[in-house]
Amino acid sequence: MSKRLIEPDYTFQYVKNELTVEGVSVSELVKKYGSPLYVYSGKAIRESYGRIQSALNELPVQICYAVKANSNIHILSLLSKLGAGCDLVSYGEWYRAELAKVPREKRVLSGVAKTLTEFEALFKYPAAGVGSIHVESVMEFELIALLANAKHRKVNVALRYNPDVDAKTLDKISTGRKTDKFGLNEAEILKLAKEYRHDPFLHIEGISIHIGSQITQLGPFEEAFKQLKKLCTKVEKILGRSLGYVDLGGGIGVQYLNEKTISLTDYAALVKKYFSNYPKILIEPGRSLIANAGILVSEVVFNKTRAGNRTVILDAGMNDLVRPALYEAYHHILPLQQTKTKSHAWDVVGGICETTDYFARNRKIALKGEPGEQIAFLSAGAYGFSMSSTYNSRPRVAEVLVDQGKIKLIRKRETLKDLVKHELGPNHP
Ligand code: LLP
Repeated sequence: MSKRLIEPDYTFQYVKNELTVEGVSVSELVKKYGSPLYVYSGKAIRESYGRIQSALNELPVQICYAVKANSNIHILSLLSKLGAGCDLVSYGEWYRAELAKVPREKRVLSGVAKTLTEFEALFKYPAAGVGSIHVESVMEFELIALLANAKHRKVNVALRYNPDVDAKTLDKISTGRKTDKFGLNEAEILKLAKEYRHDPFLHIEGISIHIGSQITQLGPFEEAFKQLKKLCTKVEKILGRSLGYVDLGGGIGVQYLNEKTISLTDYAALVKKYFSNYPKILIEPGRSLIANAGILVSEVVFNKTRAGNRTVILDAGMNDLVRPALYEAYHHILPLQQTKTKSHAWDVVGGICETTDYFARNRKIALKGEPGEQIAFLSAGAYGFSMSSTYNSRPRVAEVLVDQGKIKLIRKRETLKDLVKHELGPNHP
């Protein structure tokens, strides 16, 4: 079996038949903070950060955590204290980075639909409040150039290159094929470099790529790196100077079940092969930093049998963890208490009024299906809470971080009042 980037049961393990996180009983946390509940391990985050950092430590690498994976400001602050910068995709994420005190020069801003309103807000700060803006279209580039010149504000930009590489991951999380909406093609990049190479305010500082997520083979990375390097050489020739950095994006896959993941040593060797002579290399990991550092805990509400299928109904739904419903993604399910209960094949569903609200079908779990029985979805730290919603008017759940012997409620459970607060006002019914 491949070496796991983060052991799913490394910090989450059974002690005396009870699932624990860093030695704390998970069901005790549920008793205190309620169900469903996201629980994170600080130790797992620190270790995954350390693992990526040490694999790349011979190179001038800046890790820019992809905030979309888990945007809780406490997690952001923890990673920032370890030295991470961040990859942002909205003004909302920028605001979170501000609250978490991530140094502005360590922030990069990607996203295909940055609006004039967002730019107006960001241009109040020196260098638009970021280290660099990653531009994804010609029109966006022109807008930034216009604003920078009109406001006499110097900004750094990087051109996000779409290298037309198939990341060989799920279709729905591939981003680097020419048919995907992301980035600029080579012709657009070369033209922009030519036109703007002498711009007094806008400085082309780098080129970035991000070809997809949950990538488990090195081949697509190699293909993309090769093309990126070629393009960098062409752009540098046009600019008549070296670029300040390349950004290799995120995408390093993790183990959800037993899939083989890429070795960080091999990834680092690849980065070195192509970019060792660059002054700065950014990477934007999200999932590989946080996925296996978090679980979602849920309780059984009822069970029933549908066409012979044992079906267990949970208090969590696709609004709390949407990955199985959206991508048919696999999340391992463990009971919080290990008992002598026999494993049965279960359909595991939530309470949302949607047929797609299945967490698993025909999954063997040692569960009786009794109301109040507790389970945990593993590897739920990335794209778990951050993709959750209040669909069906269900308040979003709480989040708890266990770190260095401390238990911290890092997000309160939402209330019914929170659900309707923006609908209330002088004219409310
Ligand atoms: N950089 C950029 C520009 C991105 O768009 C993303 C993710 C990342 C970095 C981080 O990629 P990671 O290291 O996490 O693979 N919701 C999907 C994943 C969507 C990823 C979107 N972009 C899921 O739950 O699988």
